[in-house]
Amino acid sequence: MIKFFVNGRKINTDTDPDTPLVWILREELGLTGTKWGCGEGLCGSCTVIVNGNAERSCQLALKDVKSARVTTIEGIPSSHPVKVAWLVEGVPECGYCQPGQIMNAIALLGKNPTPSEAQINYTMDSNLCRCGTYNRIKRAILRAARKPK
Ligand code: FES
Ligand code: FES
Repeated sequence: MIKFFVNGRKINTDTDPDTPLVWILREELGLTGTKWGCGEGLCGSCTVIVNGNAERSCQLALKDVKSARVTTIEGIPSSHPVKVAWLVEGVPECGYCQPGQIMNAIALLGKNPTPSEAQINYTMDSNLCRCGTYNRIKRAILRAARKPK
């Protein structure tokens, strides 16, 4: 039995401890906001926050999050400054990559509330967007950091 927390809710599960976290979230908990992309840690669409750090949930097994606090896109209120900034800047196109982008951005701002453009580029570089929303993502992060461009 593995215990951990998702969006503040205590989870007890005896699913195979080697199951990727992304499948626990999507299939067991019904939290389908976290997206499956490459499955190889390359695209960032499955990004969630684990104990304050952005992590790729396709690369973490259930056993890796024992006792951890996991936050998914569903755990972020619509009033959160990053979600608000995303709407104001009209960031999404198809939307598939966006939960992972938002979670990575929130983790960044949690560690560095006023990142430079270079720091934003460095952190967000590994979250891919086939629709090319990168400039709007950067503007939204700067806006959320109260540094609108
Ligand atoms: S699905 Fe996890 S990084 Fe691509
Ligand atoms: S908004 Fe379509 S992949 Fe990013």
